[in-house]
Amino acid sequence: MSLYSRITGTGSYLPPRRLSNADLAAQLARDGVETSDEWIIERTGIRARHFADPGVGASDLAVQAARGALVASGRSAADIDLIIVATSTPDMVFPSTASMVQHKLGIAGCPAFDVQAVCTGFVYALTVADAMVRTGSARCALVIGAEVFSRILDFKDRTTCVLFGDGAGAVVLESAEQPGVLATDIHADGKHRDILCVPGHVAGGAVTGHPLLRMDGQAVFKLAVGVLEQTARTTLARAGLSEGDVDWLIPHQANIRIMQSTARKLKLPEGKVVVTVDSHGNTSAASIPLALDVAVRDGRVQRGQLLMLEGVGGGFTWGSVLLRY
Ligand code: UT7
Repeated sequence: MSLYSRITGTGSYLPPRRLSNADLAAQLARDGVETSDEWIIERTGIRARHFADPGVGASDLAVQAARGALVASGRSAADIDLIIVATSTPDMVFPSTASMVQHKLGIAGCPAFDVQAVCTGFVYALTVADAMVRTGSARCALVIGAEVFSRILDFKDRTTCVLFGDGAGAVVLESAEQPGVLATDIHADGKHRDILCVPGHVAGGAVTGHPLLRMDGQAVFKLAVGVLEQTARTTLARAGLSEGDVDWLIPHQANIRIMQSTARKLKLPEGKVVVTVDSHGNTSAASIPLALDVAVRDGRVQRGQLLMLEGVGGGFTWGSVLLRY
């Protein structure tokens, strides 16, 4: 049995269709919905998002990110013995997106399942994979966050449709003698389920309820800032470390103001926060592994550094993973 799990490779993928704020504003204006590049940048820090073309599903984005992570780790798909996909926008009601990914990677037999914790999904998935690797039920896992949020956006609602995008990020997580994941912390509180939701479902062959995203932005904002500080302190305490030890904060990429506020509360300089929300918007479960992969590939994140990954989102859910890269 291995003592630890460790990330050995990262990958990410954004679909090619990129819409700047100006592109999106022009598109929305045709339907009488008013927004502007200035408003979006000032309130969120977002400059552009990517949307998948019709017919492209979360599993397609996930496979691209997974291939990148496999190459980076020096592994092949045949080495993978566990696949967990965090998504709220699966290809189908069932089977799982993870099963689709497994098949598209040309492998069979290993367990493959989805985790649904909206924007905290990747933190949940990594927590589950870490536990499975440490207890010996997996040795080489693919952990993926993949979303096509464009499919559940209400393009008549300017308070939400400008915020989200599509994408995927992935890591290969392997058993190791050295850490690795040092501490994890995940939570949910269903009493806040209505502040961020897609309150529809399939019944009797039709969609019932409202199948598009609804959000009380200010309520989410307030809750997010508090729980992100709490969960970061919890994982640091579990690992016997302090804020000053953190090399990089890699938060869920929803809004630059939430990230700045979390960094301030943790007394981390803004230069230690990985920010990619400007280039892809909020990609829900994909945002943390996407940001991680960008920072690994541009050389900011180095082997041996201490990374704080933290997420927050619908459910209400939140959590963090503290790891030595
Ligand atoms: O993954 C986790 C999910 N989500 C989040 O983390 C989001 C958390 N919340 C937020 O990021 C912010 O609350 C938002 C970015 C969603 C909104 O920012 P805000 O500073 O809370 O703005 P607001 O809702 O107070 O709206 C301010 C004004 C309103 O106009 P009035 O009533 O002051 O005249 C809105 O109607 O901005 C207006 N507005 C817009 N104007 C132009 C709202 N959306 C837009 C828009 N373009 N897209």
